[in-house]
Amino acid sequence: MARLWFRKCSRHVARAAVVIFCLGLSHYLHFLSCRSMEESTLSGRKDAFDANRPWATSSISSPGHAPLPRRSENLSPGDEGEAPQPTNRSHHGPPTCRPKTKLAFIKVHKAASSTIMQILQRFGYLRKLSFVQHISRDVNGLYPHGLSKPNFLMPPQGESHDILTYHTVYDRPNIERLLTPDAKFVTILREPFKHFASAFPFYGYKKILNVTAPNPLEAFLENPGFYDNLNRGVYKTKSPMAMDLGLPLRLLSPSYQNEIANTTRQFINKISQEFDLVMISDHFDESLVLFKRLMCWDLKDILYYKYNNYNYSSQYDTSKISQKLRDNHKEWDALDYALYEHFNDTLWKKIAMEGNSFVQELAHFRDVELKMRVHCNSDYSALEPIVISETPWNSAFQIDSEYCTWAKMFHLCYYYLIRDRNSRYQTTLKGHIADEKVQQDGIFYSSPYCSTECENIKKECSLHEYVQHCYLEGFLTKSQSSSRKIKFLSHGGKPLPLE
Ligand SMILES: *[C@@H]1O[C@H](CO)[C@@H](O)[C@H](O)[C@H]1NC(C)=O
Ligand SMILES: *[C@@H]1O[C@H](CO)[C@@H](O)[C@H](O)[C@H]1NC(C)=O
Ligand SMILES: *[C@@H]1O[C@H](CO)[C@@H](O)[C@H](O)[C@H]1NC(C)=O
Ligand SMILES: *[C@@H]1O[C@H](CO)[C@@H](O)[C@H](O)[C@H]1NC(C)=O
Ligand SMILES: *[C@@H]1O[C@H](CO)[C@@H](O)[C@H](O)[C@H]1NC(C)=O
Repeated sequence: MARLWFRKCSRHVARAAVVIFCLGLSHYLHFLSCRSMEESTLSGRKDAFDANRPWATSSISSPGHAPLPRRSENLSPGDEGEAPQPTNRSHHGPPTCRPKTKLAFIKVHKAASSTIMQILQRFGYLRKLSFVQHISRDVNGLYPHGLSKPNFLMPPQGESHDILTYHTVYDRPNIERLLTPDAKFVTILREPFKHFASAFPFYGYKKILNVTAPNPLEAFLENPGFYDNLNRGVYKTKSPMAMDLGLPLRLLSPSYQNEIANTTRQFINKISQEFDLVMISDHFDESLVLFKRLMCWDLKDILYYKYNNYNYSSQYDTSKISQKLRDNHKEWDALDYALYEHFNDTLWKKIAMEGNSFVQELAHFRDVELKMRVHCNSDYSALEPIVISETPWNSAFQIDSEYCTWAKMFHLCYYYLIRDRNSRYQTTLKGHIADEKVQQDGIFYSSPYCSTECENIKKECSLHEYVQHCYLEGFLTKSQSSSRKIKFLSHGGKPLPLE
């Protein structure tokens, strides 16, 4: 026992030394003791792949991290069994219900859905949930019909998958098979004209549809059917959002035009029966607060960052486009307009039913959201944590450099870290002990720190993010991973967050 402990320990020290050398942190070496290394490794290993799902065993508020330091009386009462302080708790929070973790988010293109994906990846990653991912490493590999081919999916990390968030066409039977029928179904829509103006340049329709006029967007709107016709195949200019939600392409063809009113009605009925929430990106914050209430998540779970490459505005100036052209678009894209109007109405009806507390919660959310953005945009090395105290809508939490790292992490970094964790899990299942394959040359981008995705992690994550990940996974100790001691602020060449 003691020998084993010593072997493990010295190996870790050797590895840690290399890591620390890589990070230029050798002066922290004396903080390390075998004991803390041993503890962190064992506890990290134990809960890394706990067969119990993390939400069932541990507090959802501390996703595998050291608990928040109790540095302020503002921190959550009830923590450590203290007598609760008198607060007016509405039934909306700080969540007393159990956060829901089975979620299918249908990621409609060009509708601010990447910002939602960012939130879902963070939530699921921190709780070690299982994401539906394509076997090919392509983040868009599930699109359009990848869910129907189970052999082309990464196996679940656990009994079933928890979250679907990458692009795919809505396909309920297959989603229920993967996530279990308990899953919540959520999607997002955007005002169709804005959607069009943003999609047109993004997909390069000028070229695809051979629009040669000087102002291709207006020329297209003069006569959409001329450019996007059946001879060239129906592209995504006609009811693109409905198609992401599973509308069969053939129902949009001219031979079905006399049935379009029925098709529209039936389609809207189907979506409203099958989805728990349809968000509206034009009313993004309202949608998110509804989402939070539906899922019983906490405020810290839904604060979000926007990135430059999630820029949904159009490079065309649409302010001068005539009403006639807008009407043409409405006629061409009729089903999406009907869908949008229906679910925008539904959204506001839902909001009205939530009562006064909704307005208060929304204001509070916006207030904290702004604080978080300003705070996380400052230099991590000088970042003093700010404490968000408990309110009727949230439990207390800290916005510190760790929080900011997860909030700002690029989606492909999440994608590969999640995938890599699953690869390690699958290896463990097969009875291989990843630890025995440690490369003694001490390369940080190798086993056991990463498995099949080392190259992609190196490409998509900053070193700082990767170090925090290794800490979360139990491979590094707190003193090795504290971002306040690591001066790597680069985002790996990734787009900078918007103000
Ligand atoms: C709690 O609610 C009551 C009535 O709804 C109100 O009078 C009181 O001021 C509230 N207390 C706090 C701490 O908000
Ligand atoms: C593109 O449009 C131009 C004129 O509108 C036409 O002359 C040309 O043949 C078209 N090209 C293709 C590939 O359809
Ligand atoms: C539309 O649906 C109604 C009733 O569901 C049916 O009577 C009618 O024939 C349908 N119209 C078309 C054009 O399919
Ligand atoms: C978004 O893109 C538009 C058009 O390319 C550009 O004018 C605008 O400045 C961009 N917004 C941001 C915040 O980068
Ligand atoms: C959505 O509906 C609300 C309430 O009817 C309305 O005020 C708002 O303008 C609509 N949003 C859009 C983007 O059309």
